[in-house]
Amino acid sequence: MDITDFAMDLFGLRGKNAIVTGGNTGLGQAFTMALATGGANVFVPSLADDDGATAAMVRATGARYEFMQADITGSGTPKRVVDECIERLGSVDILINSAGICPLGEVLEFGRDKWDATVQVNLTAAFEMSYEVAQHMVPQRSGKIINICSMFSFLGGRLSPAYAATKHGIAGLTKAYCDELAEHNIQVNGIAPATTPRPSPPTRAATRRPTSACSTTSPPPAGATRPT
Ligand SMILES: NC(=O)c1ccc[n+]([C@@H]2O[C@H](COP(=O)([O-])OP(=O)(O)OC[C@H]3O[C@@H](n4cnc5c(N)ncnc54)[C@H](O)[C@@H]3O)[C@@H](O)[C@H]2O)c1
Repeated sequence: MDITDFAMDLFGLRGKNAIVTGGNTGLGQAFTMALATGGANVFVPSLADDDGATAAMVRATGARYEFMQADITGSGTPKRVVDECIERLGSVDILINSAGICPLGEVLEFGRDKWDATVQVNLTAAFEMSYEVAQHMVPQRSGKIINICSMFSFLGGRLSPAYAATKHGIAGLTKAYCDELAEHNIQVNGIAPATTPRPSPPTRAATRRPTSACSTTSPPPAGATRPT
């Protein structure tokens, strides 16, 4: 290859197929659009209803959009999601683990119900999705896994010990998968956004959201710092 052979297409994603969990709302929707704009087809498993807005925006870029209503914490669901993506799009080249929840509560009332629900979505489902895509990425010797971390991958914060714990956990999972999968030409990275407001209503895709998601629109208890 010669220096004059440089072309922006080298950075394009045309022909690649991506899964974005929770990719029809909030930051997940932004990741979906970023991938589609780069040329990738996107498969979105999400608990939130799909009103067609994300599909319309993705298809306007020329990329394909496939949606699967799914609770990724369900037993066997991450495998079904990956199988369905391969069935509909032909392969899985990229995974973005974006689905996440953030139940709030003061220490004395933050019990196992909130803890378990947060661990299941933010950590266990992200692990299982990563495990299932790795089954395909290792033999094909290529792939990208991107985990959505948080400032609370590094901080403690108030009102959601489970959020901080799971976001620390996913940072660790990112490093462990990165260290082991690099030799298979699979890159594993984490992104830690700060508080990010949701898009305004016309571009907002979700019609039903999990009540405890990391919303920036429903305020935390007075005086509290919202986990992000
Ligand atoms: N918004 C922020 O300020 C911010 C900052 C840092 C990190 N994050 C992280 O970014 C990610 C997206 O956050 P957001 O604020 O855009 O959230 P959001 O509430 O808009 O989206 C959450 C998505 O996760 C999906 N989801 C939740 N539980 C699920 C389940 N069991 N099965 C399938 N899908 C499920 C929902 O359907 C929804 O699409 C999260 O991991 C969050 O922790 C957000």
